[in-house]
Amino acid sequence: MTKKTSGPEAPNLLKPKGRERWATRMGVVLAMAANAIGIGNFLRFPVQCAQNGGGAFMIPYFIAFLLIGIPLMWIEWGIGRFGGKYGHGTTPGMFHYLWNHPLAKYVGAIGIFLPFGILIYYNYIVSWTLAYSAFSLTGKYFTVPSHGEMVNFLAAYQGKTQNIYFQDTTTACIFLFITIVLLTWVLSRGVVKGIEALSTWGVPVTFAIGALLVWRVLTLGTPDPAYPERNILNGLGFMWNPNFAALKNSKVWLAATGQIFFTLSVGFGCIQTYASYLSEKDDVVVSGLATVSTNEFSEVLIGGFIAIPVTVAYFGLVETQQIAQNGAFDLGFCAMPLIFQRLAGGQILGTLWFFLLFIAGLLSSIALAQPVMAFLQDEFKLNRKHAAFAVGGLCLFLSVPVVVFLKHGFLDEMDFWLGTLGVVLFAVIEIILFMWVFGARNAWKEIRKGADMKVPRFFFFTMRYVTPVYLIVLLGFWFSQDGIQVLLMKGVAAQHYPYVWFARFLMTALLVALLLLVHMAWQRKHRIQHRIPA
Ligand code: ALA
Repeated sequence: MTKKTSGPEAPNLLKPKGRERWATRMGVVLAMAANAIGIGNFLRFPVQCAQNGGGAFMIPYFIAFLLIGIPLMWIEWGIGRFGGKYGHGTTPGMFHYLWNHPLAKYVGAIGIFLPFGILIYYNYIVSWTLAYSAFSLTGKYFTVPSHGEMVNFLAAYQGKTQNIYFQDTTTACIFLFITIVLLTWVLSRGVVKGIEALSTWGVPVTFAIGALLVWRVLTLGTPDPAYPERNILNGLGFMWNPNFAALKNSKVWLAATGQIFFTLSVGFGCIQTYASYLSEKDDVVVSGLATVSTNEFSEVLIGGFIAIPVTVAYFGLVETQQIAQNGAFDLGFCAMPLIFQRLAGGQILGTLWFFLLFIAGLLSSIALAQPVMAFLQDEFKLNRKHAAFAVGGLCLFLSVPVVVFLKHGFLDEMDFWLGTLGVVLFAVIEIILFMWVFGARNAWKEIRKGADMKVPRFFFFTMRYVTPVYLIVLLGFWFSQDGIQVLLMKGVAAQHYPYVWFARFLMTALLVALLLLVHMAWQRKHRIQHRIPA
């Protein structure tokens, strides 16, 4: 029997048994940082910044970091450690203890649905980075003559078109398969020998490669003397000169907040899972801060100093503006390869750049997969290897429509509902449950338990009022500006409708399946507690 917590009457569930714990404090911070640092830091951030007012973007970005990023990070660490003490690594069990209501566990299912749904398409993008690292090493794209052709190269790789580079998605499928095998292997090794070990190695490697690339970019000068204005100083200026007029546009504020969610992986459901492997006495305050600082360092000081400045130095301002408008894939997979063609040692630098993206992305994929792993292990007592095979197999199976229907907007549809709107919605739910239902004082006590630093009182007020109000306003804005458009498929060509509907069907089916699994898990607990034969 479990004991009553400081919150509402805690329901009677099974006692935690045999759960893993992080081995070292450094390991936790690196694993959490690895969870957050991903492709978003190196491609999404520079594009968002360049598109939304350059240096001025840092103002709404920093405000969102302070009022949403840090509070949510602490809240999620707090909820996770709290749930872990009862043997629950996912939000169905955590919410069940925060809110003594039969619905709580079903609401918590969203915290498995979101990361697993995001994993399915995010991991496919991660596999592209592995492929491009290999293409850099072998020089496969080194004969592609122009930006337009590089766009075709990527399109053919993704199966959107056929050309001399790729006739179908076989190559993409091979790299996806390798990525899923690696993911499964790390998951099967468990929290300490898998996730912690890889993060302890992977995060320093990404920083080392990142530092090398930043150094190369900053020492580039003017690559082509025929174009003196195409130089690294102008590149840094384009990225960082503030355009304060942009701050009048609400889209810039939405973009900054969206980036904070994406980069810190808050609202995803996976920070709670990692925090559930802490012991009750472990600090969450300083470790949470160390995690966000590590992420911000890699995002702003590495991500902000590579792709966009170097693109300006090679292509000039006008073309870079166009590339940034086209988005992160154009920047990362079309512009950067052309630059590596022209840069001395480009084959090695290109291999390293894509390998950096791959390691960062793979570690984020692992974090996205861990909630469903933990759910199978904690609630159904599946052993680690079986759970990893189940997760890897399912990921492979569900990736098929993402690969095959990419050209029909399948991935974008999933990304909007899960990675954009879903995470904000889930953040609103968890903050209301923790700060209002469980109670602000209980929550505050929970976060400060074992803390190595006093949390400024400012955050108590922020978590209780400012963050939820900010998020609800944001959600309303997002839904009214973009949500309705996406829902009604505005701007989607008629031939894509069936595929967009299929994406919606698949997401709904996944959610329903998880709700059923949560139901079965609780029935199973009930039978065990009351010794009812199955
Ligand atoms: N936080 C992860 C990233 O930035 C998802 O890519």
